[in-house]
Amino acid sequence: MGLTNYFVAFVAIACLAFSADAARTTTTTVENPTTTASNTHTTAATFISSFPPAPTQTASSVSDPASLVNLFIGTTNGGHSFPGATLPHGMVKAGMDTDSPGNHAGYDANPTFNVTGFSQLHDDGTGGSVPLSLFKVFPFAFCGTNDIFEQCPTSLDGRKVLRNVLADGSPDDFAEPGYFSSNLSTGIRAELTVTRRTALHRYTFPAGTVNPRILVDITNEGQQSSTDPEMTLNDTTARVTGTSHFSASFGPGRYRAFTCVDFQGDGFALGTPTQSGAWLGNSGIQQTTNLQQLYFGFREQLGALFTFKPKSEQDSTSIFVRVGVSFISEAQACANAESEIPTFDFDGTRQTAFNQWNELLGRIQVNTTGVQSNVTQLFYSSLYRTHISPADYTGENPRWNSTEPYYDSFYCNWDTYRTLYSLMALHDPVDFSRIVRGMLNIQQHEGWLPECRGATDMHFIQGGSDGDPIVSEFFVKYHEHLDALNVSANALYEALLADAEVQPPNWDLQGRQVNIWKQLGYIPSDVWEPSGTNTKQVSRALEYAFGDFGISQVAKIMGLASDGAKYAKRAQNFINNWNPNVTVPGRTDIKGMMQPRFLNGTFNFTDPRHCSVNDPLQSTCFLNAVNTDGFYESSPIVYSQYVPQDTAKLIELQGGDAKFISRLNFIFEDHYFDSTDEPSQQIPFMYHYANRPGLSTQASRQTIAQFFNTSVNGLPGNDDSGAMGSYVAFYLAGLYPLPATRQFLLSSPLPTSHPSHSPTPSSATRRRSRPRTSPGTPATAPAGMSLSRYVCPARSVAPLLTRVSQSVTIDGQPWKSNCFIDWQAFQAGSTIELELTTDITVSCGSTPDALPPSLSTGGYD
Ligand SMILES: *[C@@H]1O[C@H](CO)[C@@H](O)[C@H](O)[C@H]1NC(C)=O
Ligand SMILES: *[C@@H]1O[C@H](CO)[C@@H](O)[C@H](O)[C@H]1NC(C)=O
Ligand SMILES: *[C@@H]1O[C@H](CO)[C@@H](O)[C@H](O)[C@H]1NC(C)=O
Ligand SMILES: *[C@@H]1O[C@H](CO)[C@@H](O)[C@H](O)[C@H]1NC(C)=O
Ligand SMILES: *[C@@H]1O[C@H](CO)[C@@H](O)[C@H](O)[C@H]1NC(C)=O
Ligand SMILES: *[C@@H]1O[C@H](CO)[C@@H](O)[C@H](O)[C@H]1NC(C)=O
Ligand SMILES: *[C@@H]1O[C@H](CO)[C@@H](O)[C@H](O)[C@H]1NC(C)=O
Ligand SMILES: *[C@@H]1O[C@H](CO)[C@@H](O)[C@H](O)[C@H]1NC(C)=O
Ligand SMILES: *[C@@H]1O[C@H](CO)[C@@H](O)[C@H](O)[C@H]1NC(C)=O
Ligand SMILES: *[C@@H]1O[C@H](CO)[C@@H](O)[C@H](O)[C@H]1NC(C)=O
Ligand SMILES: *[C@@H]1O[C@H](CO)[C@@H](O)[C@H](O)[C@H]1NC(C)=O
Repeated sequence: MGLTNYFVAFVAIACLAFSADAARTTTTTVENPTTTASNTHTTAATFISSFPPAPTQTASSVSDPASLVNLFIGTTNGGHSFPGATLPHGMVKAGMDTDSPGNHAGYDANPTFNVTGFSQLHDDGTGGSVPLSLFKVFPFAFCGTNDIFEQCPTSLDGRKVLRNVLADGSPDDFAEPGYFSSNLSTGIRAELTVTRRTALHRYTFPAGTVNPRILVDITNEGQQSSTDPEMTLNDTTARVTGTSHFSASFGPGRYRAFTCVDFQGDGFALGTPTQSGAWLGNSGIQQTTNLQQLYFGFREQLGALFTFKPKSEQDSTSIFVRVGVSFISEAQACANAESEIPTFDFDGTRQTAFNQWNELLGRIQVNTTGVQSNVTQLFYSSLYRTHISPADYTGENPRWNSTEPYYDSFYCNWDTYRTLYSLMALHDPVDFSRIVRGMLNIQQHEGWLPECRGATDMHFIQGGSDGDPIVSEFFVKYHEHLDALNVSANALYEALLADAEVQPPNWDLQGRQVNIWKQLGYIPSDVWEPSGTNTKQVSRALEYAFGDFGISQVAKIMGLASDGAKYAKRAQNFINNWNPNVTVPGRTDIKGMMQPRFLNGTFNFTDPRHCSVNDPLQSTCFLNAVNTDGFYESSPIVYSQYVPQDTAKLIELQGGDAKFISRLNFIFEDHYFDSTDEPSQQIPFMYHYANRPGLSTQASRQTIAQFFNTSVNGLPGNDDSGAMGSYVAFYLAGLYPLPATRQFLLSSPLPTSHPSHSPTPSSATRRRSRPRTSPGTPATAPAGMSLSRYVCPARSVAPLLTRVSQSVTIDGQPWKSNCFIDWQAFQAGSTIELELTTDITVSCGSTPDALPPSLSTGGYD
């Protein structure tokens, strides 16, 4: 089948326009909200996912979604978002580097931090040590007191410069997909754009600049970890080629990168540089053309410096700097640059990048009618960040030659497997297939699927082998189209089996601690094996179980029934860590917890509050070899709620729906819910499984309102390579994915707003007294999101927090559940219509199969 035929052709999840009569009906209903809020009838699409892009766009759809992307969300206070220039999944990510302690993506929106250069490679939203930030370029308008070459403050500290600050206190920086610019306090304007493996910079010096100078930095990447630098410059052409070794960001390895830098005048012939030389530390040394002419020591700061003729004495001078990057060789860095940006066409390169983003983002259409503009911006900005990583390093893998795609910057699959790839499955199967092919190719050469990876090095595994659910997700969604997507089912299954069955030489870097998992069905606390760290045993076991669940789904589709049963059984091993007797101190009603276990079968004890804000020991729970408590980056309380493949079993273990609900409430009330970390991501949606989708709608809306917004600090923690972006996009769409399955949990879509249809005070008051996720807490809107503004357009007075779907039709046919929809609807390009109610007590539906599926109740048979 042709590629264009089978994707999500048109999917509409609708929040309907009401007639005036309906609006009155709804108002009445709100006054008596326990009766059905009927007639909240949908007539049009709010959320349309379409691939390929729908041929015609209506006025209320978004024709130019790339222009709605705010790249500065999460660029200060720990979001570590990357606001620079990149193509979708491009290798080169050119951006500003600052001296902020949170400069993991180079940039910080806080203008008190100084600029140290404009470098070529970054990641998005990571922790660890500062990754990449290689081969910085830096412009000088004037050097020292007499403007002389040798006085240029070339070192990282010496050259620091502030940005201009605008009247509102923000820095004079601008970014849109594929482009970044900034005005420095030296009067120089820096602009960046990119192709896949090449950056193009333009530096505009103030009029009257006599000696425009530009530095290339070979050694100062994010960690200043350079060893064995090499550099050659041509004092006629000003070409610089160079290389160095650098440290991996989150693992033990090192890597080598290469660059090739060329200059050209914008609108004038640049000619031969008037001065050139290497620089060492804080001084330029004229007439040196390679580093071998210098005496330098370990980790010295080194690079090239040029003085160019200005365009004229009156005009401002603009100089292009084209920077090719490669992980193979200097020659390849030059070839990449010459082939990708042959004519230094800045505006054309920028436009091409922007168009690529527009095409990609436009595959998901938001009906903007009545939607607050910052909500649409939040949606597209979040979607944008899901396409920064992993990065397409095809042709740049130094470790083996292959004709398969090669992707890098999986940082880490632990973060992204929960939501990012399911979003990709909805609109971008070709990139998804290439990423999967790259993962399979890594498995074929290294033995196991990548889990965490950066700059061609393996990084530390955080939990399970979380490439498994990603690859399984791809197979479950696209197994009917593997030929068109060039993915081999056998290679895919072999890769999964390697993770599931073969113990690697070091499970801190690949695979799993699988021998003992196969033997016991849990990871004991007191067994020390030589090939990995004995830590985070419980959270690893829970993820191994989910990984095995994904494999069971793949096996079943492949017709491998006995494998399917075997891995489905292993997927239920989470029960082995359940100690029914453990309670939260002071809360004997919260009984039963995931707990660490010894080889002899007895349980050790970890305080359920461990790793939470309520932890009396205030443990950090990050990767740490001496951490013997069993849990990673989240509390036992949260991990005891995290079994996406079998929530029905969890409800049974916890003592039934009422207990399960009160536990979820407790998690929110007592601040165990952690918006900054992925293990909590599903929790707001979990009321669905107890047949209370209204409570999920409330909790998920509240999560967005409280923790995510369009300001520079609009992320509560690291973006984690788009993990948070995909999470927000799903929540705004009213969906939550269950990776490696055909189901999406369903709420109600993108909040629409209509200030002129605010609820009356009396109805608002009444709603505030209604039961909600945090009993005892008034149902006020969270700060910054007013109930009254979040209403369906032109009719509903239903506040955002209680807009629950009470019936669903797919292509006009009633669908069995208010709580989930099936992939089939997306695959068929169906129109999904939701009838909404303010009745918080609405159920998933009247039949048993209205509840979202679980393994133990036969949902995945
Ligand atoms: C967008 O929503 C408005 C109001 O709900 C509706 O009138 C319009 O038809 C919708 N547009 C599309 C393209 O669905
Ligand atoms: C940035 O540079 C300016 C000027 O050199 C200096 O005054 C300031 O302290 C620097 N800021 C930081 C955060 O280092
Ligand atoms: C920088 O200054 C130029 C004018 O020189 C202006 O066009 C631009 O908008 C300013 N801001 C940024 C971020 O480029
Ligand atoms: C500089 O580049 C030019 C043009 O490619 C070449 O002719 C010349 O030999 C190079 N100079 C050096 C010192 O390599
Ligand atoms: C890849 O192929 C090239 C060209 O044949 C060769 O020079 C290089 O060593 C090979 N790389 C690896 C890692 O095998
Ligand atoms: C699959 O491979 C063929 C042949 O190499 C190629 O033409 C096609 O573009 C590939 N399809 C995808 C989706 O990569
Ligand atoms: C839990 O307590 C019951 C009753 O005291 C006991 O029989 C059971 O063995 C305990 N289970 C565990 C895992 O400690
Ligand atoms: C089980 O093993 C743990 C850890 O070695 C030990 O403390 C405990 O006493 C053992 N329990 C039994 C019943 O053997
Ligand atoms: C049992 O748990 C405690 C508390 O986390 C820990 O200090 C201890 O090392 C654990 N025992 C073993 C044998 O892992
Ligand atoms: C935006 O989100 C951040 C991070 O969660 C939060 O600290 C901040 O208060 C929010 N701002 C507004 C205006 O809601
Ligand atoms: C949108 O703007 C409104 C009003 O300025 C604000 O209350 C709300 O929190 C913003 N929403 C988001 C998602 O940033």
